[in-house]
Amino acid sequence: MILPIVGFGNPILRKVAKDIDKEYPELDKLIEDMFDTMYHASGVGLAAPQIDKSIRLFVIDATPFVENYPEAEGFKQAFINPQIIEESGELWVFQEGCLSVPDIHEDVSRKSIIKVRYFDENFNEKEEYLTGIRARVFQHEYDHLEGKVFVDRLSPLRKTLLKRKLNDISVGKVRTDYRMKIVKK
Ligand code: NI
Repeated sequence: MILPIVGFGNPILRKVAKDIDKEYPELDKLIEDMFDTMYHASGVGLAAPQIDKSIRLFVIDATPFVENYPEAEGFKQAFINPQIIEESGELWVFQEGCLSVPDIHEDVSRKSIIKVRYFDENFNEKEEYLTGIRARVFQHEYDHLEGKVFVDRLSPLRKTLLKRKLNDISVGKVRTDYRMKIVKK
């Protein structure tokens, strides 16, 4: 089932999301719906707050990046209660976008190597290193669970320049090929 995507300005995107356990109701169905919603919107990642659930869960399918970033191959899965244990490596700049922030694509600088811990969709605990585009997509989605959006990471000048566009998104003045959930003020 395809779910509406919450837009920038909705307070749920600013909340720190809560851990879940194995008993979370219909988790398999939720994960499936999140993949469907992400693919429908041509995204490479989707975090639960973006579908109006403040829980620590996101899905990623980075395979559209394979041509330019070979490490994206096979990076397709759900992450439950993820943690970033450490970040290392060089800072690198990559242009990010977000289904909750349509039509805005901006360079963001982040470290290139992360050590992460999470549960997979079967609640098996995993610990691994992610590099390059794998790290990048994980970091972007992880921010959503912490109540952050990628535009928070831009310079004050860039933020000022985007202010009107962001305000338009927050009041629903944006066109997308997917359904969005806007808070009417
Ligand atoms: Ni996003």
